[in-house]
Amino acid sequence: MAALSAAACAPTRAPNGPGSPASPSDVPAASWADRSLSAEKRADLLVASLTLEEKLTLVTGYFGVQKEWNEYQLAEARPQSAGVVRGVPRVGFPPQWQTDAGSGVATQGEAPPELERTLLPSGILMASTFDPALAERAGAMIGSEARASGFNVMLAGGVNLLRDPGNGRNFEYGGEDPLLAGTMVGALVRGIQSNRIVSTVKHFALNDQETGRRVVDVQIDEAAARASDLLAFQLVIEQGKPASVMCSYNRVNGTYACQNGWLLNQVLKGDWGFPGYVMTDWGAQNDTVKDAIAGLDQETGVRVKGEYQWLDKLQAAIRAEKVPQARLDDMVRRIARALISVGAIDDPVKPGPIDFAAHSLVTQSAAEAGIVLLKNSGVLPLSPTTKRIAVIGGHADVGVLTGGGSAQVYARGGNAVRGLGPAHWPGPQVYAPSSPLAALRQELPSCELSWADGTDVRAAAAAAGAAELAIVFVTQWTAEAMDFSVTLPDAQDALVAAVARANPRTVVVLETGGPVLMPWIDSVAGVVEAWYPGSVGGTAIARVLSGAVNPSGHLPASFPRSVEQLPRPRIVGAEVPKDQPFSVRLSEGAAVGYRWYEARKQAPLFAFGHGLSYTEFAQSELAARVVAEELEVSFRAANRGGRAGKHVALVFVSPRAGGWEAPRRLGAFTKLDLAPGASQLASLRVDPRLLATFDVAKQAWHVAGGDYAVTLAASAADAGQSVTVQLPERWLPAGSGAAARSPR
Ligand code: BGC
Repeated sequence: MAALSAAACAPTRAPNGPGSPASPSDVPAASWADRSLSAEKRADLLVASLTLEEKLTLVTGYFGVQKEWNEYQLAEARPQSAGVVRGVPRVGFPPQWQTDAGSGVATQGEAPPELERTLLPSGILMASTFDPALAERAGAMIGSEARASGFNVMLAGGVNLLRDPGNGRNFEYGGEDPLLAGTMVGALVRGIQSNRIVSTVKHFALNDQETGRRVVDVQIDEAAARASDLLAFQLVIEQGKPASVMCSYNRVNGTYACQNGWLLNQVLKGDWGFPGYVMTDWGAQNDTVKDAIAGLDQETGVRVKGEYQWLDKLQAAIRAEKVPQARLDDMVRRIARALISVGAIDDPVKPGPIDFAAHSLVTQSAAEAGIVLLKNSGVLPLSPTTKRIAVIGGHADVGVLTGGGSAQVYARGGNAVRGLGPAHWPGPQVYAPSSPLAALRQELPSCELSWADGTDVRAAAAAAGAAELAIVFVTQWTAEAMDFSVTLPDAQDALVAAVARANPRTVVVLETGGPVLMPWIDSVAGVVEAWYPGSVGGTAIARVLSGAVNPSGHLPASFPRSVEQLPRPRIVGAEVPKDQPFSVRLSEGAAVGYRWYEARKQAPLFAFGHGLSYTEFAQSELAARVVAEELEVSFRAANRGGRAGKHVALVFVSPRAGGWEAPRRLGAFTKLDLAPGASQLASLRVDPRLLATFDVAKQAWHVAGGDYAVTLAASAADAGQSVTVQLPERWLPAGSGAAARSPR
C-alpha cells in the first residue's frame, strides 16, 4: 500500500501561500468564469485568484440543519438539508448546497409539505430492475428535483456491496455483485448529473456494516478488495463519472478511509485517474495532516465549534509545512473543476417548480420493473373472477414502508403511519402514503377485499379462512446507523404461518430493506419482494399482483435459508462497547453473496438473479467468441408465453481450470422486452476484469489463458446452458477495462 510519493509531499510555496499576503495574485477574479475555456483551465484560474482564506472556505462544509445541536446554522443552508459549503461571492463562486440521497431529495427530520418530494424505490429495488436505462431516467428525475430544490450537490448513489443481509443500509445500495451494482448505480449517477449538478458516489470504501461504523477496522486482502467492493466503485466512476466520491467512516486495513492514502491517492486518484474531489462522510475527518496528505479534499458536516480539521488548522499545518500549499490548491482545483465540468457553475441552481405528476410515473415504472416475484404456485396473477380476498398487515391500508436515516425522503402526503420506530434519528419509521389495499380495490373492482391489520392473529387467520385467497403484507424497517436481524420483527413470521394455515392460497408481500428469512416458505402459495417501493409503491404492488404488470424484477442479492449459511451469522461488533475499536476480517474476500454459496456448495433460499414472470422465456443459440481481445457472448431469447414480458438474461463466466474465489461470476446481463411469441438476438461484452484476478505484485489484472465456460442461467443457482471459449492470457492495468474505454 504505497504512500504518497516524497515529491508530492514536499512542501511547496504558492504565490499566495503562507508568507505571502492574504490577497489574490494578479489573476483577475472574473477570468475563471470565461466559458470558452476548459474546466481545467478555469479551475486553475480560480485557484490563482483566491486568497488562502477563500480557498479554505471552499473545502469546508457545515451541517445544513437549523437545530440547536448545529453550532453554525449558516444562513446559506437550504432548510433541513444535509450540508452547505460557503461560496466566495467576491469571485462569483456559489455555495455548494448538498442534499441526500439516492432515492430522492431527503430532509433531515420530518419534512413540512413544501419539502416533500418524489421518492424513488430503494436502491436495492432499482438494482432488481437489471435495467440501467431505467435507472438513468430515475436518476435524471431525482436530480431534477434536487436542482429545483436549490441543490447543486446530491449525495448519491451508494454502492457498498451487500455482504451481510443485516446491514441497515442495504436498502440504499445495489446488491451483492460488483458488475450489477456498479452498472446500476453508475446509471443513476449519470442521470443525476445530467441535471448539471454533482453526484457523490459513496461510501468509499468497505463500509458494509453500520455497527461500529466509526470505529470498525475492515480487513481484506487487496486482491479480494479490488475484485469486489472496489470494482463496484470503479465501474460507477467509469460509467457514471461522478464528480465526487465520499469516503467512509470506517477504517480499511488499519487506516481510516478518509485518511487512507492507498485508497484515495493510489487507487482512486492514481490507478483510476479520478479527476473529481473526495469529500468526507459527515464528520469522518480525523486528522488535519494525515487526511490532507492521504488525498482528502473536502471536509463536511462540521457542526461543533472546534470539531473540524481544515479551516485554521489546515492553515496552520500549511504554515508549519506539514501540508504542502499545493495540496490545498489541488483540493480547490478539484472541487472547482467538478462543479464547472458538470455545469453547476454556468447554470446556477435555483428553487423552482417540480412536475410531480410526471415524476410519479417515473417512480411507478421503476417500482413495477423491480418488484420481484419469488414464488408462485399458480395463485398469481390474481384472477379477476376472485370474489373475496383477505388483505392483512403491513399497514397496507395506508401506505408502503421506506428506509430510515439520512436518505429519508418524505413522499408527498407525508408519513402515513405515525409513532413507529425510534423517536429520534434514524427514526421514525415512515410510510409513503400509497395504499396497496386501495390500489388493489381499483385493480379488482368486482372483488370484495377485507382488511385486517394483523395485530390480532386470530382475527387475521379468520379473515383468511373466510376468503378465497389471502395477501399478507410483512415489513422490515431498516435504517442508517443500525444493523438488523434477518428475522422479520414483531412476530410477523407467526402471523404468516397462522394465515397460511387458515388458507393455503396465501400470498406474502415483503417490504424489506434486504434479504430476510422465510420459515413459512413451504406453506404459502406466493411470495413477492417489493422492497421499499417508493412514492407510488402501493399502486405498483397491486398492479404486479393483478397482472396489469408482468413482474420482471430479479434478485440482486441471495436470500439465505438460515444465518448459518452466511460468512458471518451475526454482524460483528454488536457486543463491543460503544466507541471501542474492533476489527472485522472479511474472510469471504471477493466471494460475496452467490459466489460464497457456490464456493461452499450451499443452496440459498433464493439465489442471486432469481425472479419469476407470468410468461415463459427460452434461450437458445448461445455462442461465445473473442473479438478484438474481448469476450463476446450472443444468444437468442424468446417469449414462449401468452403475455408480453421483460426477460433478464444472465451470463456467468468461469475458468475451467478453477482458481477464482468461487466457481462463477456474473459476466454480463441484459433485459429484453419481448412480445408474446417474439424472439430477439442479443450480444453482450464481458468486461475483462470479470475474467481476471488482481495480481498485487504486478498491480494489474491478469486473465489466465485457457478454457472458460460461458453460461446462460436463470439465476446463480441454475446450471443453465454453457459453451466453452478459449481465452488468451492477458494483462490489464489496474485502472482500465472495457468499460473505461467504452464511450458514454
Ligand atoms: C451518511 C451519509 C450522508 C451524510 C449526510 C451520513 O450520516 O453516512 O450517507 O450523505 O450523513 O447526511
